[in-house]
Amino acid sequence: MNRSLQDWIKRHERDVLPTEAERTKVDNVASKLINACERAIATSGRTASVVLGGSYAHDTWLPGEGDVDAYIVFPKEAGRSSLETVGLKVARLALKGYGIIVRYAEHPYLESYINGVRVNVVPCLSTQAGQWMSAADRSPYHTRYMRERLDDSKRFHIRLLKRFLKTQGLYGAEIKVRGFSGYVCEVLILKYGTLPDLLKGASSWNVGTSISVEPEVLGEQKKEFQILDPVDTSRNLARAISTRKLAEFVLLSGVVLSGTRCDPFERKLLRPSRLRRQFMENVVLISFRYSERAEDILWGELAKSAAGLARHLGVDGYRVLNHGIEADAGRCYIGFLLDRVEKSKFAVREGPYYYMRDGHSGFLESSRNLSWWFEEDGRIRRLEASQLGTVKEAIKYYMADPVARAGFARGLAEEAKRSWEMADGRRVAESDDMVARSVIRRLFGYARELDTC
Ligand code: UTP
Ligand code: MN
Repeated sequence: MNRSLQDWIKRHERDVLPTEAERTKVDNVASKLINACERAIATSGRTASVVLGGSYAHDTWLPGEGDVDAYIVFPKEAGRSSLETVGLKVARLALKGYGIIVRYAEHPYLESYINGVRVNVVPCLSTQAGQWMSAADRSPYHTRYMRERLDDSKRFHIRLLKRFLKTQGLYGAEIKVRGFSGYVCEVLILKYGTLPDLLKGASSWNVGTSISVEPEVLGEQKKEFQILDPVDTSRNLARAISTRKLAEFVLLSGVVLSGTRCDPFERKLLRPSRLRRQFMENVVLISFRYSERAEDILWGELAKSAAGLARHLGVDGYRVLNHGIEADAGRCYIGFLLDRVEKSKFAVREGPYYYMRDGHSGFLESSRNLSWWFEEDGRIRRLEASQLGTVKEAIKYYMADPVARAGFARGLAEEAKRSWEMADGRRVAESDDMVARSVIRRLFGYARELDTC
């Protein structure tokens, strides 16, 4: 039976709110953290202050997932570069005795756990609005802004939105997800008031939509989807959201508004398509080892490498329908779904645009040039006989020199070159390598039926 969004919301009225006991626990961690930071500042002899930020300070955190973000604010005279030296040193001092993980955003900060609660200590500078020296400088302004404007109802709907996005795999600004950040959720609810009204609004979003809480400073019209940061309207928060995640959100908005059989706060409404045996021969998967590094860096490098391989396969005459990536426990995976895996007859090489006249003759003189033409983009194309064999042989060729031949990220290339292995879809589908199987499953996208659980 279909239930309305209102019914589903009613069902989660209580469980998206932290209990008193959990609040007390996180409050205690927050005071501990502030004390630790203040002591560290005193010991270091520096001038700085501590403010709490993020979802704890805004009271928009989800039960079981509360983390406490503390900002150590240095005077701006300390300078941008001090954040990575002195700033980090004071943060380290504050977390002394706890296990520390160094994380990287625009500049490094520290993560740790106190009594099982995740805490972040982020150094930043005390700058005036608009004169930001580091990205984190805006955070105390965000906190002041949200504290003034959020009420119980909005905080409740922010929590609902976060729970919905998490369940649907759309939450988080990290490179791995490129989805909606906690702060974006707050801005969206500030704009639309409630989750149902946000979902209604999303049904008319398009490439030129600009969402802004504050009156927009009229600049040039950008042909870009925008969610403006109310604290700094020159900053488009939506840039961190991939179009794919945005698109899934818009599609799901419609699905949820019309009532669903499955609980949208508990079940993924887009289910992966089942694996069809007869398609498995069109799948090729490579995997290789990587050494530890920051998550955001790893996923950035992996995405770049996979896109490079896919692009080169395309140029060399293989039709890549989709590609997918995964990284887990020291091993990266890149999977391809291809129209055919056999040898291709042609490769089409892209040359200079018509207005880059100096390049034309050199490009055409190549002995590989069978024939050529311009395409509508104004760029020259040269038809060549394919030098590579099957898809697997092409990949072997690329992987012998992954940076030069396939546009691999440098940071992954050496280890990939030494340790890479290839498998076909059939073998993986029958193996017990769950990570490899999940990559393959994702290559085929979602099942036709939405909302079945
Ligand atoms: P986050 O979005 O990382 O986490 O923002 P959150 O709001 O604390 O959400 P959860 O509950 O832990 O998942 C932390 C702070 O970082 C800044 C904002 O100041 C935000 O309050 N931020 C975050 C941005 O400036 N831009 C963003 O896109 C995201
Ligand atoms: Mn947080």
